Amino acid sequence: MLEPAQTDIDIWLVDDREVADPDLLDAYRELLNPEETARHQRFIFTRHRHQFLVSRALVRCVLGQYLDCAPATVEFSHNRHGKPQVVADPGLQFNLTHTNGLIALAVTKRAPVGIDVEYLSRQADIVKLASRYFADEENRALYRLPVAAWNQRFYDLWTLKEAYLKACGTGLTTPLSDFSFTFGKQGIGIGFSGIIADDPAHWQFWLLDAPGTFRLSVAVNDPAAQTYTLNPKMGIPMGEFRPLVLPAAAFAQ
Ligand SMILES: CC(C)(COP(=O)(O)OP(=O)(O)OC[C@H]1O[C@@H](n2cnc3c(N)ncnc32)[C@H](O)[C@@H]1OP(=O)(O)O)[C@@H](O)C(=O)NCCC(=O)NCCS
Repeated sequence: MLEPAQTDIDIWLVDDREVADPDLLDAYRELLNPEETARHQRFIFTRHRHQFLVSRALVRCVLGQYLDCAPATVEFSHNRHGKPQVVADPGLQFNLTHTNGLIALAVTKRAPVGIDVEYLSRQADIVKLASRYFADEENRALYRLPVAAWNQRFYDLWTLKEAYLKACGTGLTTPLSDFSFTFGKQGIGIGFSGIIADDPAHWQFWLLDAPGTFRLSVAVNDPAAQTYTLNPKMGIPMGEFRPLVLPAAAFAQ
């Protein structure tokens, strides 16, 4: 049984392209409940279907270790915005993110956690998206940077906003421009418009470089403001996971 320390956040990473063994994939399929099996079969593109299967196997195998139960028996409920939690221990906090080539699962003991990953070279109209979604002060800071730094800042903000929303569990019902991030010598800070009743001192954020040109953001909410430690590891579900160093991303100030 895995028992994370009160202030540990375990980060489980999988490159789904490395999982190809047909027997292993059959074993993953055996773990799915009927609802997951139906969702699995509905995917049109093979790579999305494959990523869903590997994600479910990761979540079930990893959470089964924390709960000391068989992976197929882990039961989930969802809040009204779709955030999953474990029925047997709603205090066990976890969050999943996936993109092409990387799946990441964050697990911690009591504090709500959110995680988001994006491929840094993904083509996107960042000026259009930033002006549509980001807070005015974030856009002003973005355009003060050299043009060469815009793409990275865009994904820094995007993943941090997603990680915050995913920790809160409210999804996109919280307007993305009602909270904003700053990048300074003290690290990453969050600020809230008057509409959001939240306290910046309750939040800790990490912005990390993940193998394969991915940006990974993690957010944790703890009113006691304890200092948290990330424990990243990489592997494949039902196989071995090895500790991994995830460097903090360098950000322009
Ligand atoms: C669902 C959402 C929470 C994240 O979606 P996403 O970034 O597309 O996907 P991710 O891979 O990071 O996360 C998906 C996982 O988050 C979890 N999740 C679902 N709803 C959630 C919620 N309300 N809160 C937290 N986690 C949630 C699930 O485990 C889900 O996995 P599943 O799809 O395999 O069931 C939501 O924020 C969303 O729809 N975002 C759309 C993207 C966007 O417009 N972003 C703007 C950022 S500036």
